[in-house]
Amino acid sequence: MTQTHKKLFIKTWGCQMNVYDSNRMTDILSGLGYQTTDTPEDADMMILNTCHIREKATDKVFSELGRLREHKDKKEKEQGGKVLVAVAGCVAQAEGDFILQRAPYVDMVFGPQTYHELPEMVLKADGAQRIINTEFPDISKFDHLPKEHTIEGAAAFLSIQEGCDKFCTFCVVPYTRGAEYSRSVKEILDEAHRLVEAGALEITLLGQNVNAFHGTGPDGSTWGLAELIRAVAEIDGVKRIRYTTSHPRDMDDDLIAAHGEIEKLMPFLHLPVQSGSDKILKLMNRKHKADLYRDVVARLRKARPDLAFSSDYIIGFPGETEEDFEATMQLARDIGYASCYSFKYSARPGTPAANMQGLVADHIASERLTRFQSLINEQQYAFNKNCAGLTMPILFDKKGKKPGQISGRSPYNQSVYAQANERLIGHIIYVKISEGFENSLTGDIMEEKTDL
Ligand code: 5AD
Ligand code: SF4
Repeated sequence: MTQTHKKLFIKTWGCQMNVYDSNRMTDILSGLGYQTTDTPEDADMMILNTCHIREKATDKVFSELGRLREHKDKKEKEQGGKVLVAVAGCVAQAEGDFILQRAPYVDMVFGPQTYHELPEMVLKADGAQRIINTEFPDISKFDHLPKEHTIEGAAAFLSIQEGCDKFCTFCVVPYTRGAEYSRSVKEILDEAHRLVEAGALEITLLGQNVNAFHGTGPDGSTWGLAELIRAVAEIDGVKRIRYTTSHPRDMDDDLIAAHGEIEKLMPFLHLPVQSGSDKILKLMNRKHKADLYRDVVARLRKARPDLAFSSDYIIGFPGETEEDFEATMQLARDIGYASCYSFKYSARPGTPAANMQGLVADHIASERLTRFQSLINEQQYAFNKNCAGLTMPILFDKKGKKPGQISGRSPYNQSVYAQANERLIGHIIYVKISEGFENSLTGDIMEEKTDL
């Protein structure tokens, strides 16, 4: 039975995959009469869609749950009825039992592979059963999702692949998201068409290990990511394509060539490497050496000379000496990044690295992280400053921080601010870049001819 006027609050942590999942949960629950609200105070259901990658992830979830509990108690007392509290995502997957034990007011705990079962779960939870659902079902959730109608705007995400079989020793993803799975090409292209109809100009293809994509094509053959990108590029309304997150070992020749051939494929690639030391890369079970990464980057740059890179690095992994760290600094110097994320290693329970010897003292890891980040900040600042004077197509997607300002993304994924009318939001506009700062660019609208 469809009920009306119930309100749903979802808070999302973590990667774009979680943003995508939250939108799909919203779609499913709208079928049960739930409409989203930004304020937990008046919600009938509150979902925390969690991320387990960061340190103290579980603590953060519990402190947020404490706040939600107050709203739940108050609303139930004042207005009667039941307010459901749910924990979803990767913390739910990894710590489900613990959450139910420690937070008796939580009604549902479910992992990233099970949210297509939300209607049954909600029914049971409404009937006062506490739900834990952290199985990896045999049937993919993608076969059971309603057609998406939560619109991500002009820059949309499309999940094409999930899970990971790489088993890097520091990483929880193979345990929380499960084995690698690729959606079929037809499903993906249908979704891309629907996104375009809903106003998307840019599509980011998402997956934990997205370039391991191997979906079934319309003719039954297996397609790689390059073939898929070519097909997405043929959709008229798609003006820009990105994909994330990639593994260096899965950058095959076809994908590298695609960067040279497909103009819609944006000249910016997030390619995590994690370390510049072969010894540490081996301990991390990354299955590649630093020189393979250098080689892949060089081949990509040959295919598309203006390609800019970002990466992820972990600093202070067990066994990292000053020499290993210097190899990491050298790799970053050799590549020259447009931006880069770096994290101090922290053990994730259940991963092989959590039992490794040779822990790096915290003050040493912090000091190395500071050195690494100042190198990256210099590189990013230099890259941004170099953009001054260029005219770039900017996809404006929201209001800026200052009055009269709008904000968008350059082809290189930089944040760009311009003084302009809000009606340009949702369009691609040529902008002359006036100045590059550490974290953003400013520019002036060149012509209001939109969408290229
Ligand atoms: N410690 C520190 N950083 C980590 N990451 C993943 N697991 C850990 C960990 N245990 C980082 C990696 C990954 C990014 C998403 O998070 O760099 O690429
Ligand atoms: Fe985790 Fe990425 Fe390694 Fe897979 S490839 S285990 S997602 S770090």
